Amino acid sequence: MNYRRFGRTNWKVSEIGYGMWGMGGWTGSDDQESLKSLQRAVDLGCNFFDTAWAYGEGRSERLLGQIIRANKDKRLYTATKIPPKNLQWPSRRGSSLDDCFPPEHIDQYVRSSLDNAGLDNFDLIQFHVWEDSWVEDDRWAKKMDELRSEGLIKAVGLSINRWEPWNGVRTVRSGLIDSVQVIYNIFDQNPEDDLFPACVEMDVAVIARVPFDEGSLTGTLTKDSRWPEGDFRNTYFVAENLIPSVARADTLKPIAERAGISMPEMALRFILGHPVVSTIIPGMRKLSHVDSNIAMSDIGRLSDDLLAELTEHRWDRLPAKWSN
Ligand SMILES: NC(=O)c1ccc[n+]([C@@H]2O[C@H](COP(=O)([O-])OP(=O)(O)OC[C@H]3O[C@@H](n4cnc5c(N)ncnc54)[C@H](OP(=O)(O)O)[C@@H]3O)[C@@H](O)[C@H]2O)c1
Repeated sequence: MNYRRFGRTNWKVSEIGYGMWGMGGWTGSDDQESLKSLQRAVDLGCNFFDTAWAYGEGRSERLLGQIIRANKDKRLYTATKIPPKNLQWPSRRGSSLDDCFPPEHIDQYVRSSLDNAGLDNFDLIQFHVWEDSWVEDDRWAKKMDELRSEGLIKAVGLSINRWEPWNGVRTVRSGLIDSVQVIYNIFDQNPEDDLFPACVEMDVAVIARVPFDEGSLTGTLTKDSRWPEGDFRNTYFVAENLIPSVARADTLKPIAERAGISMPEMALRFILGHPVVSTIIPGMRKLSHVDSNIAMSDIGRLSDDLLAELTEHRWDRLPAKWSN
């Protein structure tokens, strides 16, 4: 495993981190399987774990706490997220700080996430939705300073709404945050336009999330894919999204085949090609996924030719009703 600097915090985080949404909220999750997968990741050098209160209302945070306590001898970095008070994903233009993150709500949820995980502090606390206009209201930043002084948190970040990479650039430039979490993958390349240059300038760490576009970039979906009732993927992969996603993933398959690599490998090694990314957080519950994804760090970025070819597969999408 290779490690990269996590922006101005100077932490050294594993290039492949761990996304913990699926194990908290998607159908088919099994806590014992998830714990085994988390432990395997730790054993293979993964040291960055991303969860949220919203991932099963604390279920994923509880798993994180267990894995941290089982590995007290290792420096593992913990990141969680505060849900918006109105529990609406994503936030909308016009949502106010009071609708989503009034100071007392921030305080309450940092403490409740610490209780869930059974930890004394988190390395990183992120806002689970964000509106860039909130940068002008300094109440959130003051509350975060208080929590930092109390020793409950070390660093502060934003998780940027899906397909709105511009909606955090001013906050990055404010110097008030340490990291951004953003969707960045073979399809969603638009964080490169404005967000990444701002992060470089301000030494703000980038967490690349949803590396497989929730599954389409693994090449395993078909236009008939469906999941058990209640699974988020049924609402994301509505026909309007599933059919073009599968069609676009199909155009990538011959490229991966020609390069002699798998689709998941191509997806992760594409992201490793961008130096601004500190860590990629694939969602994984299965041991085999942990093994194959973590192996990508040692194999490294794709060739310049292949990276250039994949640039052509950029797909700019706009938020839709189903895209939360
Ligand atoms: N608003 C936000 O802040 C937000 C939103 C979305 C995601 N996130 C974070 O980003 C993380 C990653 O996103 P995600 O989990 O939604 O989606 P993702 O990483 O794009 O895709 C996860 C899916 O890919 C599968 N997978 C993983 N490795 C694979 C491999 N090598 N081969 C084939 N399939 C593989 C997983 O299967 P298994 O699970 O069965 O192993 C899972 O079904 C989340 O877990 C969460 O931590 C944050």
